[in-house]
Amino acid sequence: ETIEWDPEDAGKSGYDHYMLKEIHEQPNAIRKCLRERVTEMDATVSVSELDELDHDGPVQFVACGTSYHASLYGARLLREQGIRAQCFLASEYDTEMQPVGGDTLVIGVTQSGETADTMNALRAANRAGATTLALTNGVGSSAARECDYVMYIRAGPEIGVAATKTFASQQVSLALLTGVLSGQYSSQEIRRLRDLPDQLQRVLDESNARTVAEAYADAEAYFFIGRGYDAPVALEGALKMKEITYKHAEGFAAGELKHGPLALVTENTPVFATITGDANASKTLGNVKEVEARNAPVVAVTDSSSDVAQYADHVLEVPAAGPRFTPILANVQLQLVSYWVANGLGRSIDKPRNLAKSVTVE
Ligand code: G6P
Repeated sequence: ETIEWDPEDAGKSGYDHYMLKEIHEQPNAIRKCLRERVTEMDATVSVSELDELDHDGPVQFVACGTSYHASLYGARLLREQGIRAQCFLASEYDTEMQPVGGDTLVIGVTQSGETADTMNALRAANRAGATTLALTNGVGSSAARECDYVMYIRAGPEIGVAATKTFASQQVSLALLTGVLSGQYSSQEIRRLRDLPDQLQRVLDESNARTVAEAYADAEAYFFIGRGYDAPVALEGALKMKEITYKHAEGFAAGELKHGPLALVTENTPVFATITGDANASKTLGNVKEVEARNAPVVAVTDSSSDVAQYADHVLEVPAAGPRFTPILANVQLQLVSYWVANGLGRSIDKPRNLAKSVTVE
């Protein structure tokens, strides 16, 4: 008797798709990312690859897709520590219109390290005399080779086209980088970072995302809102949904809801509202009430720091990891919702139509 053995399936370690496997690898990915880089004892962050980096000028991020969403998150972390930071879609970056000085650090956030648009932006920054840094998963990639500095996110290989664990690892890497550049993380923040892998495991073990996905599998469209640190989560939540379900999904900063998208909100458009301890939570709560008044189903992704749960049809709960890091946990719930919606629709989850893992054309 022979047992059929498919090498493709062997790589999935029992999961139906690489994407689900990679979602579940996130606690370990983050653990690896943090290893030997944070010391709770004296509340320090050190990244050996960046030992020589001594920077106190402005920062510009260049990135595409999911990596751009990570950049939005990273720029906010830096700005909160008093560091000037801006984000650019790599394809829109122009060193003439956006002057780059010798004191500028240009950071290319790129999982593969090979994305053409990001490489072009980094090359332009190099020519303009900026210091460049690649934040990448691609060991020995073009970005790693051509930038002045490289910080590895250590996520391990990601096969699914839709980025999942690399996004979490980018976020954690950006949190570390912020600690390196600002030198001002408190021991409480360090502890929160150290606790993240276990908290992420809890999210995975206890998630009710599948139930939520099944409840809204027939939705006409999906909207995602959040503000502050939760805004990039909204954008990323919508991107994941589009990529693997082929359904219409839009994410935006919660405040923008009333400036157009609200016209599309109906009882067939569930709204995923991420509210995780941001200082402006009450404003997002106001937006939730607006969509509720239009009979849209509301799914709250929250650490129960606000009373959004009482206005929601479903709650995807996450543990509280402080205002900076809880959004990393919230994003995982949205990854799972997209996965289960796509799975219910029988989509080609690991290789969505028209998309490529690494885009090497402009
Ligand atoms: C492609 C992938 C996305 C990714 C983007 C940027 O479009 O399908 O998942 O976010 O490229 O890739 P990078 O390797 O630069 O992070």
